Amino acid sequence: MTVDSNSSTFLAIMLARFLSGSEGYLVETLLILWKVVDGNCRGEKVAWSDICLPKNKGGLGIKDLISWNKALMIRYIWNLVHGSNNLWTTWIKTYHLKGRSIWEVTAPQMCSWNWRKLLKLHPIAHPMIRHIIGNGLDTSLWFDNWHPDGPIHLKWSSRVIYDAGLLKKAKVGSIVHGEQWVWPCSMSIDLLEIKNYMPSYNPNSSLEDCIKWLPTPDGIYCVASTMASLKTPHHLVPWFELV
Ligand SMILES: *[C@@H]1O[C@H](CO)[C@@H](O)[C@H](O)[C@H]1NC(C)=O
Repeated sequence: MTVDSNSSTFLAIMLARFLSGSEGYLVETLLILWKVVDGNCRGEKVAWSDICLPKNKGGLGIKDLISWNKALMIRYIWNLVHGSNNLWTTWIKTYHLKGRSIWEVTAPQMCSWNWRKLLKLHPIAHPMIRHIIGNGLDTSLWFDNWHPDGPIHLKWSSRVIYDAGLLKKAKVGSIVHGEQWVWPCSMSIDLLEIKNYMPSYNPNSSLEDCIKWLPTPDGIYCVASTMASLKTPHHLVPWFELV
């Protein structure tokens, strides 16, 4: 039987929680390592024995294990945003997102420990993902990271959504006309500011949007580059850095 590696890692987390209560961080990390040890970064295999070596022999220290765990949790967010379809993302989209953007969702009072923990990683994960607009149909206008100033809802108040006369769930596609950015007319100062500082490229309605993982040069998620970004957050590409 083949098991999708994301959902099996998810099951591993659940199992770890079950076995060890809320102190299960390490057990959980180890379980995750055990599950993904040969699937971490396209083709890059790490032997279990190498990971368990003492740090001075080239193994990972506890801090590394923690950032490894974080990097793997962040991969779930990447999978959700990037639209990789598997059991887990389908489940999350159906029961938690219900058509909303992951960036729009906050943890409800009653929700699982895992889901809450994942949502807490928003501020770390969001700057790592950049949408390059083609037709704009796959990118949330207000919540995704496509504007040079970062996600619009983080910098400007939700008033701007109202001023623009567009829906909260609007896609960037609603301001893409062929190869032009076309915003609705409005007297809103905020909207003027947003319009005046658009991406340096033009959209192209014949192309699909593209999502890039910024810590990796080829734009695809990878555990190693994510861990490196977690360790040196000041090297993280800030909102304003464009392609
Ligand atoms: C838009 O995309 C189409 C399809 O790839 C391409 O033929 C066209 O040249 C692009 N337009 C611009 C201005 O790049």
